[in-house]
Amino acid sequence: MNNTPGNKKLWGGRFTEPTDQFVERFTASVEFDQRLYHHDIAGSIAHATMLARVGIISESEQTLIISGLESIKSEIENGTFNWQVSLEDVHMNIEARLIDIIGDVGKKLHTGRSRNDQVATDIRLYLRDELDTVVLLKNQILHVLTDLAEAYSDTIMPGYTHLQSAQPITFGHHLMAWFEMLIRDRDRMLDCRKRLNVMPLGSAALAGTTFPIDRELTAQLLGFDGICENSVDGVSDRDFAIEFCAVTSMTLTHLSRWAEELVLWSSTQFGFIELPDRFCTGSSIMPQKKNPDVPELIRGKSGRAIGNLIAMLTLMKSQPLAYNKDNQEDKEPLFDSIDTLKDVLTAVSSMLPNIQPNTARMYSAAQEGFSTATDLADYLVRKGVPFRDAHEVVGKTVAFAIAEDRALDKLTLLELTTFSAQIEADVFDVLTLEGSVKARNHFGATAPSQVKSAVIRGRKRI
Ligand code: ARG
Repeated sequence: MNNTPGNKKLWGGRFTEPTDQFVERFTASVEFDQRLYHHDIAGSIAHATMLARVGIISESEQTLIISGLESIKSEIENGTFNWQVSLEDVHMNIEARLIDIIGDVGKKLHTGRSRNDQVATDIRLYLRDELDTVVLLKNQILHVLTDLAEAYSDTIMPGYTHLQSAQPITFGHHLMAWFEMLIRDRDRMLDCRKRLNVMPLGSAALAGTTFPIDRELTAQLLGFDGICENSVDGVSDRDFAIEFCAVTSMTLTHLSRWAEELVLWSSTQFGFIELPDRFCTGSSIMPQKKNPDVPELIRGKSGRAIGNLIAMLTLMKSQPLAYNKDNQEDKEPLFDSIDTLKDVLTAVSSMLPNIQPNTARMYSAAQEGFSTATDLADYLVRKGVPFRDAHEVVGKTVAFAIAEDRALDKLTLLELTTFSAQIEADVFDVLTLEGSVKARNHFGATAPSQVKSAVIRGRKRI
C-alpha cells in the first residue's frame, strides 16, 4: 500500500488546494475495499461492453478498455499493482491505472456511471459469490448430519428441558434438531439471494443518466436476475447486506448452541462425546486438560456476527436518501461476517464427522434421571386414571425411588402397586428407555423409525 500523498484526483477539477493528508487517509477505503477488485473489473467490463453495444464508445475503444482491465487484474493477482491511499478506493485505483495503461480512452469508461452505482453493484456481485459458497458449506454439513442421524437413529440419550433430564430421546433425533435449525438458515440465505441479485448499475449518481444505456444487457452480462426499479434506492440502500448479516447472526447463534452442547458433552461430568485431539488444545499448567477450544471459539464468534449486524443497522438508520459516505462503512462489518461465517462453517464441517459419541454413557445418563416418569403417567391414563391424578401418583413414586436410590424400572411390582392399584406387570414395558422412545411414534417424534423417515425426507430437502 502506497501512502504517499498528493496523487492527482480523478475529481480534482473544481478544487484549489490539495486534500488534507489526514483527510486523505480518513476518507480512504482502499485498504479494505480492494478485495472487491475482481467484481469491480467484471462490472467495468460489462459496462464497457454495453457502452459499445449502444454506440456510446466504439468497438475498438471497448477492446482497449477490456484489455487494459484484464492486465490490471493480472497485476493485482501477481502482486505488482501499486495500491495508492491517495486514490481513495478500489474503483479509482483501478480507473487511474487504466488511464495510465491505455491513455485517454480509459477516461471514457466512467461515462454514464458513478461510483455510487458502481460500488453498490460491486458489493452485490461479491456478496453473491460468497453467499453461494456459504450455501455449499451449509449443504455439506446438512449431509453429514443426516448420515450421523441415520447411524444413531436408535441410540438412546437423555433429552433435556431446563438442562434437567426430561425424557429419553434418540441421539439421531437430537442431531436432526440441529439439521432443522441449519436448513432454515440455508433457506434464509437462499431467500436473501433473491433480493441481493438485483442490479443497481445504471442508477448513476442517483437520478440515472442522460446516455441511452441498456441496463437489461448489463444485467444479463453480470448474471443479475433483475434491475433496481428506482435509481435513488439503488445507490442508497444496503438492506441486502444487512439481511446477509442478520442471517449470519442467526446461523452463528444456532451454531453457538451446537458448540455449547459439544463443550458440555465433552466434559468429564457428561462424558457423552470425545472430541478428536486435533480440534482441542492443552493447558500450560494442568497436564490432564484437553480443552474444547474450537467449539468454544465457535460459540464466541457469534458475538462478532451480532455486533456486525448492529453496526450495519446503525449505519443505515436515519440516513437521508440517496448515497452518503456513511455507506463506505458497510464493508468491514460485512466482510468480517462473511469471513467469520465461512471459518465457522469450515470448522463445523471438519469436526462434526469426527466426534466420537460414548453411547454407553449416554444410555446410563438416560437411566439416571427418572426420565420415563411421563411414560408411567401416560400408562396410568391409558388405564383410566385422569392425567392430573396420574401426575400426582408418579410424583410420589419418583420421591420414593429417590429415597430408595433406585431407578423406576428397578422398583418391584409390589412397590409400584402401593402407589396405584391400576399398575400391572405390563408396566415394565413402558418403564424401559427403549419402550419409552419407541412409543413416541408419530411424525416429528423421537421413535427410531420416525428418525429414519426424517432422515430420508431431510436428504431430499438439502
Ligand atoms: N468508496 C466509496 C464507498 O465505499 C465508493 C462510493 C463513493 N462515492 C462518492 N460519491 N464518494 O461507498
